[in-house]
Amino acid sequence: MNIAIIGTGYVGLVTGTIFAELGNNVICVDINAAKIALLREGKSPIYEPGLAELITRNIAASRLHFTTEHLEAVREAQVIFNAVDTPSADDGSVDMSSMRAASTDVGRALASLPSEQQFFRVIVNKSTVPVGTANQVREIISTNYRGDFDVVSNPEFLREGQAVSDCLHPDRIVIGDGHPGSRAVMEELYRPFDAPILFTDVQTAEMIKYASNSFLAMSISFINNLSWLCEKVGADIEKVSEGMKLDRRIGKQAFLAAGPGYGGSCFPKDIRGIVSIAADHGVDLKVLRMVDVVNNEHRQLLVPRLEELMGSVAGKRVAIWGLAFKPETDDLRDAASTTVIPALQAKGAEIHAFDPVAQEKARELFKDVNYHPNPYEAITDADALMILTEWNEFISLDKVTMKKLMRAPVIFDTRNVYEPHEMAAEGFTYASIGRPRVDTGVNTSVNVPISATTDTATLTPQPVWSDAATPRF
Ligand SMILES: NC(=O)c1ccc[n+]([C@@H]2O[C@H](COP(=O)([O-])OP(=O)(O)OC[C@H]3O[C@@H](n4cnc5c(N)ncnc54)[C@H](O)[C@@H]3O)[C@@H](O)[C@H]2O)c1
Repeated sequence: MNIAIIGTGYVGLVTGTIFAELGNNVICVDINAAKIALLREGKSPIYEPGLAELITRNIAASRLHFTTEHLEAVREAQVIFNAVDTPSADDGSVDMSSMRAASTDVGRALASLPSEQQFFRVIVNKSTVPVGTANQVREIISTNYRGDFDVVSNPEFLREGQAVSDCLHPDRIVIGDGHPGSRAVMEELYRPFDAPILFTDVQTAEMIKYASNSFLAMSISFINNLSWLCEKVGADIEKVSEGMKLDRRIGKQAFLAAGPGYGGSCFPKDIRGIVSIAADHGVDLKVLRMVDVVNNEHRQLLVPRLEELMGSVAGKRVAIWGLAFKPETDDLRDAASTTVIPALQAKGAEIHAFDPVAQEKARELFKDVNYHPNPYEAITDADALMILTEWNEFISLDKVTMKKLMRAPVIFDTRNVYEPHEMAAEGFTYASIGRPRVDTGVNTSVNVPISATTDTATLTPQPVWSDAATPRF
C-alpha cells in the first residue's frame, strides 16, 4: 500500500518505518527541514532502540522516503497518517495549530493533483486529539479539496523507549470510522498485525486514547500520593504495589511504579487536555484535576526533599543521573529534570549531569550544567546525587567506588533503583520514594578524603528504623 505520514516525530517516524518494514511504500513529510535532511542521510533524529537500523534498511530497500513537500508525500498515497504534535496551550487546552496547518497542507496538496490522481483517500488521525477533531479535519480539507476522502481516528498507544516493539506488537488497534470504504482499507493495512482490532465510531476512538492515558497517569499519581503516607507510617510502597498487583482485578502489569511523578510528551498534556475539553462541555473531571495537582506537588517536593537530606544546596555540587523522562529515550519533554535542575540552580547548586543518550538534547535545554561522559565522573566530588531516570546501567554500579568518589555520600533515588538496607550498609545517607529510610548510624554528611578512608571498616553499618530518619513529607 502507498502511505504518507505527515509529521516525522516520535510517532510518525516509528509508524512510517514499521509500515515500510512490513512491505508498504512509505513517504514521510515534515516541515522541519533539518530533520528531513538527517533522515535522508539514514540518520535518526531521535533515540529509540532498534529504530536507526530499521530506517537504514528500509531506505536501502526503497520503501521509506522523506520529503519536506506535502504534494510529493500525498501524490500516490492511499492512506495519509496525520501524526503532528498536539501540545498543551498555556491554559491547558490542546494546541491544535499543527493539526489545522497539516490538514490545510494536505487539502491543498490533494487539490493541486490532476483529476486522474484524485482517487479515494483515507486520512488517518494518529495524533492524540480532542473528540470532534475528525470532523474538523474533514471540514478543513474540504475547503480546498473536492475529491473523495474519509477521515478516520486511529490513536497511537506506543511507549517511547519501546516504540518499535509496541508498534509491531500492539496490545490493540483502535479504529474509529463510519465509512465502509475506509474500514476495508484499514483492515487491509493492519492485517499483518497479531492484535485485536476494535472498530468504533470516531468520537469513541478519540476518547479511548485520552481515557487510556488518563487512567495510566492516574495510577502514577495514586501510587505517588500513597507513597507520602507510606513514608509517614513506615510502609514500603514497592511491596504495597506488588501486593496490589497480585489482585487479578488490578493486574500484574498495572502501572503502579512510585517515582518522581509522570512526565514526557503525553501524560501531562493529555491530562490537562481532557480536563479542559471536559470543562468546555460543562463537565468537571474532578479525579483527573487532582491527578495533575498531585503530580505537580510531588514534583515540586523533590528538591525540598533533597534539602532534608543534605541541608541547603547553595554552593553545593549536585549530581544528576538521568535527564530523559524515562529510560531508553532521549525525550526531555516534561522530564523530572526540567523541574529539578532549574529549581536546584535557583537555589545556588552546581549541577553535574549524566544521561546515556539525552545529553546532546539536554545541552540545548539546560544552561550552566556540567555534562560528564559516565556516571562515575558525574558524582566525583559531589555533595549529593539525585537519580531521576532508572537507566539499567545504574543498577550494578559499584557502591564502594561511588562512595569514595562523592564528597558526601548522599543519594536521593527518585526511581527506587537501589535497596535502602544495602545503601545504608554501604554507608550512604539514602532516601527513595515511599520506602522507609534506613539509618547508617554514622554521620555521613561529609566524606573523608579518599586516601584516609578505610571504608566499610570505618562505616560499620547500623541499620535502624528511626522516627527521626523517616522523611517529613
Ligand atoms: N510521543 C509519544 O510517545 C506518543 C505516543 C502516542 C501518541 N502520541 C501523540 O502523537 C502525536 C505526535 O507526537 P510526537 O511525540 O510524535 O510529536 P513530535 O513533536 O515528536 O513530532 C511532530 C512532528 O510533526 C511535524 N509537523 C508539525 N506540523 C507539520 C505539518 N504541517 N506538516 C508536516 N509536519 C509537521 C513537526 O515538525 C514534528 O517533527 C501527538 O498528538 C502525541 O500526543 C505521542
